[in-house]
Amino acid sequence: GGIPPFRNDPMIDFTIPEQRAAFPRAIAEVRAAAGGTVPLFIGGKEVFTQDTMPTTNPADPDEKLADVCQAGIAEIDAAIEAAGRAFLIWRDVSPEDRANYLFKAADAARRSAYRLSAWQILEVGKQWDQAYHDVGEGIDFMEYYAREMLRLGRPRRMGRAPGEHNHLFYQPKGIAAVISPWNFPFAISIGMASAAIVTGNPVIYKPSGIAARIGYNLTEVFREAGLPDGVFNYCPGRSSVMGDYLVEHPAINMICFTGSMEVGLRIQEKAAVVQPGQHHCKRVIAEMGGKNAIIIDDDADLDEAVLQVIYSAFGFQGQKCSACSRVIVLDPIYDRFVKRLVEACNDLKIGPAEDPANYMGPLADASLQKNVGRYIEIAREEGTILVSRDDIPARGCYVPLTVVADITPDSRIAQEEIFGPVLGVMRASTFEEALEIANGTRFALTGGVFSRSPEHLEKARKEFRVGNLYLNKGSTGALVERQAFGGFKLSGVGSKTGGPDYLLQFMDPRVVTENT
Ligand code: NAD
Ligand code: ALA
Repeated sequence: GGIPPFRNDPMIDFTIPEQRAAFPRAIAEVRAAAGGTVPLFIGGKEVFTQDTMPTTNPADPDEKLADVCQAGIAEIDAAIEAAGRAFLIWRDVSPEDRANYLFKAADAARRSAYRLSAWQILEVGKQWDQAYHDVGEGIDFMEYYAREMLRLGRPRRMGRAPGEHNHLFYQPKGIAAVISPWNFPFAISIGMASAAIVTGNPVIYKPSGIAARIGYNLTEVFREAGLPDGVFNYCPGRSSVMGDYLVEHPAINMICFTGSMEVGLRIQEKAAVVQPGQHHCKRVIAEMGGKNAIIIDDDADLDEAVLQVIYSAFGFQGQKCSACSRVIVLDPIYDRFVKRLVEACNDLKIGPAEDPANYMGPLADASLQKNVGRYIEIAREEGTILVSRDDIPARGCYVPLTVVADITPDSRIAQEEIFGPVLGVMRASTFEEALEIANGTRFALTGGVFSRSPEHLEKARKEFRVGNLYLNKGSTGALVERQAFGGFKLSGVGSKTGGPDYLLQFMDPRVVTENT
């Protein structure tokens, strides 16, 4: 009996031979299953469309993984209708029963963890351990939000007035559009979807086209959990065709978005307009980009700092909202740090994520390769290139790992989110100046400080204003509950996934007063 307290899913351990051997097996299994047509999933039924979009392996764009059906206006209408029908029942399902579906879905994901990881290795070029960690984070979200709903699902008695009972409780908002990025394709998608579902809101889920097949993994997991028809609807589609339509639809009550600042701001603007027939304000939860800095103080432990900066900057090719893209180094240690950073960067192995010997792989898609390629040219114009790893495979979506120095704090390389393996190095003469540079962008997502000085660490705690600050630790890899994740300024609305405030945003509070 009883539900055990929340614990994070264990990390992969490659010293255990069975865990290591499971990856090539799962990759082969996924390859054997690849190549078919993936349907939409609406109202509990598979729906095939004329319009399909291929999804491929970025390490070998000739390897097609699936043709994914594309929702247009008609399919979004059908999904909204199915979700609307489901809402009438789902909103009154008890929090316990809703939480149980999440526990079952988490079990289903655990049973398929290697297979789910293999899809990421092949569809977005994520390294073995990071793919497995993404799946683990998805499991954590379900386990955590299920428990949170049990906590919030109990009506609360308010005040102590005699002759009067006051109860505060929460009701779901309605139909949620869940719009996700490709970079944490299972974790972020299932995190947003399961938060909406467990709070009583049916979901129209639009994955990114770059990770649409991984998006179908959510359908598999929720079907295995026996979720009622219409509560989860898988609707990949071209955003140019159905993006605005979905966001502006009067029957949509909330939009749960994670992605770029540009798209997040557009969604907020569209969602603010009340459409004919709409009788509610739409809630927008938007988690957006970052331009994260790590400060290297003059007394930093360089063994740790170099390792962690490299992982934060180049893990998954720098394609994390939490990635370090600026390293700010105190003058007295600048030359020593930079020398070691450059040596280490020149030693990293680059190649397909399928081979675990490779530290860095391809970008997730050819469009991203082009975009980051342009930033590498800007880096050449704005600064001094310290590392340019052009010893990369000729085929596939690779770009040279790049380290650039001598950039000014207001340069494009220091201000714009690049979302690739490009690291800018800057020099500061005092710790205060380093903090000022670190805070000097429109983003406020993650940050790090390597220092042995208690005063400097204390100062950073107060004045390094980001959503997630790491002291003597890299800037990526937040864990559910322990590091509730998300930023503010133009990095997001401050909603903190995997934290105790998150589910409140998916519900409206009500109070009933009874005169007794
Ligand atoms: P993106 O903004 O290009 O796309 C995100 C999603 O929005 C995709 O599903 C896309 O198809 C959809 N979309 C695009 N235009 C739309 C429109 N007009 N209407 C509705 N939907 C639309 O982002 P991306 O390239 O998938 O992901 C990378 C970005 O996500 C980076 O900026 C990164 O920092 C950010 N991100 C942030 C967090 C966070 O927690 N803050 C986490 C992961 C990624
Ligand atoms: N939660 C992810 C990280 O912290 C984005 O790296």
